[in-house]
Amino acid sequence: MQNLIINGGKRLKGSVDIHGAKNSVLPIIAATVLLDGRSVLHNCPDLSDVTAALDIIGFLGLTYRRNGSDIEIISKCPAAFEIPDELMRSMRSSVMFLGAVIARCKSAVISLPGGCRLGPRPIDIHISALSKFGVRVKKIQERFEFSAKEGLKGANIHLRFPSVGATENIIMASVLARGTTVISGAAKEPEIVDLADFLNKAGADIKGAGTDKITVRGTDKLSGAEHTVIPDRIEAATYIAAAAATGGSIEIKNIIPWHLSAVITAFKKCGCDIKTESDRLCINPPERLSAAHKTVTGIYPAFPTDAGPLFISALSVANGTSRFYERIFKNRYAFIPEMRKLGANIETYGEMAVVNGTKTLKGAQVNCTDLRGGAALVIAALKAEGTTTVGNLCHIKRGYQDIADNLRQLGADIIET
Ligand code: UD1
Repeated sequence: MQNLIINGGKRLKGSVDIHGAKNSVLPIIAATVLLDGRSVLHNCPDLSDVTAALDIIGFLGLTYRRNGSDIEIISKCPAAFEIPDELMRSMRSSVMFLGAVIARCKSAVISLPGGCRLGPRPIDIHISALSKFGVRVKKIQERFEFSAKEGLKGANIHLRFPSVGATENIIMASVLARGTTVISGAAKEPEIVDLADFLNKAGADIKGAGTDKITVRGTDKLSGAEHTVIPDRIEAATYIAAAAATGGSIEIKNIIPWHLSAVITAFKKCGCDIKTESDRLCINPPERLSAAHKTVTGIYPAFPTDAGPLFISALSVANGTSRFYERIFKNRYAFIPEMRKLGANIETYGEMAVVNGTKTLKGAQVNCTDLRGGAALVIAALKAEGTTTVGNLCHIKRGYQDIADNLRQLGADIIET
């Protein structure tokens, strides 16, 4: 199963259900390392990254069972604190296990995936925060050894940048630490609130998640908990962009609309009529989108970097020239040369992409360069005349469950081979 074959030019119509959020379920699975007892997680997407995260907790001695979108996990003190290279490298965001393992075992040995397509992914913010808890770190070749012989001690931590992963790691390190931890300059993404909600159900005392100041009172023990993962706002943004690009009217269900505010505003500015209800939205795009004068990615609640490629893809067929600025990741634009193969007219100048909208795109053979860049190619292929083959699907599988089935249900001519 390596390619999607798409015969483009069909307007999407109908209704689609959004799965649970990849970026919530991954840290929550990592957080189960902190607990004792049985947890049940509902609304878990079936993604290769989720399988990779479960492989890691399995290696650490926890047991789990998947039943549809439910995952049952039985937690106990990990049998190991050293996570082998191949497991760490199977998932880009494996660093999120660091906070939980160091908190639980007082030692952790991990490796990191190297710089990925989005550019280097340093962990200096994670490391400097952990050092405030009394954690020492040694780098031996590609491995990082962390230890806190005396256990972790709560601390005041200010983040120089509100890193999502670092905020999650610090929360996980702090829930079992002695005393109180105050994180200032914290990331405010909805997925952080979801992690805090899960940990609070497990007995943690975390206040302020969703603001830039989070206070955590350490506790001795956490128990299993039941939790429903929030909907995936980026998967929802993908279907918004696909509808907008193809000129199709669709309903997107099982979402939290205000998590998508910046994305909805951006598409409304391009002429889309978007109506929201408590857990769904309906998008009715114009015949052809208007260009977007200036869109800038930023930390939540600003326009999300993960939705950048999706928006750029839709803008590639808009009427006029759009300017897009990527401010979070240095190499978000790796997918753009592939977009050009489909006839898109996009130039990049450092963080700025200038998107000269063309009326039509043409089918071609393209390859996914990364997760969201891959989704951008699928959106463009849905609009393009003729047949597009999208290869290197493993990137898309990391973040989209049933994308071909969902798009087919919306009227697209798409098969997976
Ligand atoms: C998470 C999301 C990812 C999203 C990103 C930004 C998950 C699994 N992934 O990634 O989909 O695109 O948030 O919303 O939740 N940085 C440093 N030093 C550090 C850590 C980060 O310089 O120690 C920099 C990064 O290089 C990047 C920026 O901070 O330029 C944002 O990174 P971060 O917020 O940490 O993203 P992730 O948690 O990796």
